[in-house]
Amino acid sequence: MKRNFFITFEGGEGTGKSTQARLLAGFLEKQGISCELTREPGGSAGAEEIRELVVKGAVRRWDVMTEALLMFAARRDHLVNTVWPALAQGKTVICDRFADSTMAYQGFGYADEGLGRQTVESLYQTVVGDFKPDLTVILDMPVEHGVERALRRDATVNRYEKMGLDFHRNLRQAFLDIAAKEPNRCAVVDATGTIDGIHAQVAALVQQRLLKA
Ligand code: TMP
Repeated sequence: MKRNFFITFEGGEGTGKSTQARLLAGFLEKQGISCELTREPGGSAGAEEIRELVVKGAVRRWDVMTEALLMFAARRDHLVNTVWPALAQGKTVICDRFADSTMAYQGFGYADEGLGRQTVESLYQTVVGDFKPDLTVILDMPVEHGVERALRRDATVNRYEKMGLDFHRNLRQAFLDIAAKEPNRCAVVDATGTIDGIHAQVAALVQQRLLKA
């Protein structure tokens, strides 16, 4: 039976992905499942350097295709140097954002200028191949709620948090569309509840879909 998994957390700004990823790692470690907690963009030395280029600076610093290519360059470095080696060692990898974020942000966030599904899928196939998460938890909440929370969280707001509400509405819809298209891989969790309540839902999902499977 497979005991190590690749689990990703996705969702808009301020939905609590990092907190839930950390709590899930603690929950699995308690059951004797060794975890590597990581994030995108970033998660390896090279990818963290690329992260600096994409999350900082002017709102429309990069054209959308350049931005997607930077995300995929960071992703490739992260997979080669962190994710695949950890999985090969038998660890479960829990990642705060992965390629669904590229589909949502660069594919659909910018509405008419977005790259759309086919382009992002073909970049994915070239860079990542057939490798996919075993489970993707999509944390969903009304846009106003999440963006407000993200803006309150810290003074060093990232480029995306400065985008307008329409951008964030497009993102939310894109994540929900991904979940509807791939229900076996994805699960949508209401992220408006308490941290503990959301964690309990995530833990139950992992039990049902991965550990008991
Ligand atoms: P974080 O704040 O969740 O760490 O993510 C940094 C920002 O990068 C966040 O606003 C979402 C954005 N992003 C993309 O636009 N495309 C991607 O593929 C990824 C992984 C993140």
